[in-house]
Amino acid sequence: MWGGRFSARPDQVMEAINASIDVDKRLAEQDIAGSKAHAAMLAKTGVISAADEAAIQKGLDQVLSEIREGKFQFSKALEDIHLNVESRLKEIIGEAAGRLHTARSRNDQVALDFRLWVKSACETRVEQITALMKALVAQAETHADTVMPGFTHLQTAQPVTFGHHLMAYVEMLDRDRGRFADAIVRMNESPLGAAALAGTGFPIDRHMVAKTLGFDRPMANSLDCVSSRDFALESLAAVAICAQNLSRLAEEIVIWSSAQFGFVRMSDAWSTGSSIMPQKRNPDAAELVRAKSGRAMGSLVQLLTIMKGLPLAYSKDMQDDKLTTFEAFDSLDLSLQAMTGMIATMTPNKERMRASASSGFSTATDLADWLVRELNIPFREAHHITGAAVKAAETANIALPDLPLAELQKLEPRITDKVFAVLTVDASVASRKSYGGTAPERVREQVAAWKGKLG
Ligand code: ARG
Repeated sequence: MWGGRFSARPDQVMEAINASIDVDKRLAEQDIAGSKAHAAMLAKTGVISAADEAAIQKGLDQVLSEIREGKFQFSKALEDIHLNVESRLKEIIGEAAGRLHTARSRNDQVALDFRLWVKSACETRVEQITALMKALVAQAETHADTVMPGFTHLQTAQPVTFGHHLMAYVEMLDRDRGRFADAIVRMNESPLGAAALAGTGFPIDRHMVAKTLGFDRPMANSLDCVSSRDFALESLAAVAICAQNLSRLAEEIVIWSSAQFGFVRMSDAWSTGSSIMPQKRNPDAAELVRAKSGRAMGSLVQLLTIMKGLPLAYSKDMQDDKLTTFEAFDSLDLSLQAMTGMIATMTPNKERMRASASSGFSTATDLADWLVRELNIPFREAHHITGAAVKAAETANIALPDLPLAELQKLEPRITDKVFAVLTVDASVASRKSYGGTAPERVREQVAAWKGKLG
């Protein structure tokens, strides 16, 4: 492609380090869509003839079908997807192919292709996150009043409902969706037409190309067009944060499905056995979702590191933006699908959760609140009395609601047997009706609201 200036072939290792075709062949669809839009614009503005444009369009269609049908011969010597496509186009249509690259450079071409790919990947992740949210909402609806222990420090804190716990992830995932959606809005400008870096002397119409390719407008500065990858960075941040949220849910699945907890049973389809221990049902998919978050976070740091300190405009460093971005999006793709499958098919063990929710003096706060409400005792003092009650129950090796009234009255004589009504886990969760609280009626409201929003 630059034979005019060079007489010798590149060193083999030079070719190996320089070629990106193994990675950027994934941009074939975007590359051809960009070329078709560019060719149409060149003809419309009179830069190339209608006949050349027609030949280019037809030829590009053929290249695309060859690629789709797996018949295309990708060549490392041709470095990247752009040169591979153009070279094949030349074989098919001859001389007219050479006019396609007028008023364009691989620098704006790759910026365009990559932007189109990232945009569509973000759109797909939004859909996949939505599917996971729906699976969570469906389980939350079934389990709006299934009680479980709520934890802080992974120590029993207060009873909550399983539905409430799952709906917390729906809120997190909605913000994840929002991050992708916001990134799409900002990246929705076309870099094509910046040419190498400075723009072009040809009378091109960048607005036309932007519109054809589904962008809101062309980017305003040609140097920015070819040297910015913050659209990818922003998306990778969204990927990393989403993967991090998924890894927390994955961790909970690992804990919940252990024999010691026994809160949920994962379906056969999402469990694996052990080759030596027949009793095992391992939550491998959850563990791998947890692990894959590392890839997403690593990719973000990798691209930040590639980009930091690069002078404007294009540098070849930027070719390494793709592999890491593809890997991050791919791993989130798998993670979201796996998580959706796991959540949709898991079976909570209500009895185990209830038994666990009732242990660990989980309703101690309810006792303290009762003392405040009914006896007008200051909360700090109520906390102290309740602490003594917990200690008495612990010494007697019984649960808090099983403490005899006489024992409680030793700590505060005005306590009546009405207190026992608030010490059950059901009463505890039902009482937490504050906005956003764990009460089943609040959870059902949230479920209904989300069902409306998610469709
Ligand atoms: N394969 C290159 C990349 O991915 C395309 C741009 C090449 N530009 C150049 N000036 N060598 O970044």
